[in-house]
Amino acid sequence: MNALALTDDIARHFGRARESYEQAARLQRLVATKALSLLTPTQGLLLDLGCGPGWFHPELKQRCADLLALDLSYDMLQKTRAAQCATFIFQADAQSLPVASESTDRVFSSLMLQWCEQPQLVLQEIARVLKPGGSAVISTLLDGTLQEFKQAWAQVDSHQHINQFLPLDFYQQLGPHCPDLALTLQIETVRLEYPDVLALARELKDLGANTVTQGRNKALTGKQRWQKVQQAYPSRSLDGQISASYQVLYLVLTKQSIE
Ligand SMILES: C[S@@+](CC[C@H](N)C(=O)[O-])C[C@H]1O[C@@H](n2cnc3c(N)ncnc32)[C@H](O)[C@@H]1O
Repeated sequence: MNALALTDDIARHFGRARESYEQAARLQRLVATKALSLLTPTQGLLLDLGCGPGWFHPELKQRCADLLALDLSYDMLQKTRAAQCATFIFQADAQSLPVASESTDRVFSSLMLQWCEQPQLVLQEIARVLKPGGSAVISTLLDGTLQEFKQAWAQVDSHQHINQFLPLDFYQQLGPHCPDLALTLQIETVRLEYPDVLALARELKDLGANTVTQGRNKALTGKQRWQKVQQAYPSRSLDGQISASYQVLYLVLTKQSIE
């Protein structure tokens, strides 16, 4: 899939999920709450990149004077508008921000970066739009996320059923791409329980997080195949519940002040 088609596909999947997203967003709530604890308040402008339906905006609005909400998905932004917290709302790609250089005091972005084909572009854009002394908090997923699901599917077929996530190394080596930014990293493993693999797959769909970028099988998965995946799933309790792990990275970026 080329980059434009992929971006459209991601926006479409998230758009379709706009009504089911908040109900399914267990991981997103945990992660955004932790990311928020790393964000210092500002009297100025805060940019929420990949804001989704804006469910978190009452909390963000308490930490800034003006909130700029930005997302790829028009449908998600309709929900954001209804939440009535954002001062400005932009439909745009985080890899190419329609925001003036050095205009923004804080950037917040929770669980959006892993959807971007070129995350380094997003970080460069953040470095560009931040005022000197401004800061950003970003959360994203790392390699190892949903590894149990991946392992189970590998026993059943050779298609890709979940996205590839970047390894920690990628973020550790970002320094030279963003010379203006001081960077700190924190990692956390979050484990969530599901009644079975179908419930896990349904949650991903309800979140709009079911776009697979490469090597996906477009055919529907039949009941027997799901049973095989359930049997092959490596982390099951006696009552059949499964556990899925998510490797979460929190990045705190500060733009150097000019002396
Ligand atoms: C998992 S949701 C996270 C939403 C929200 N930040 C939260 O924590 O609930 C990812 C969001 O990022 C948006 N998104 C994905 N790629 C994007 C891009 N390149 N630029 C802007 N938004 C993007 C999607 O449309 C979706 O609303």
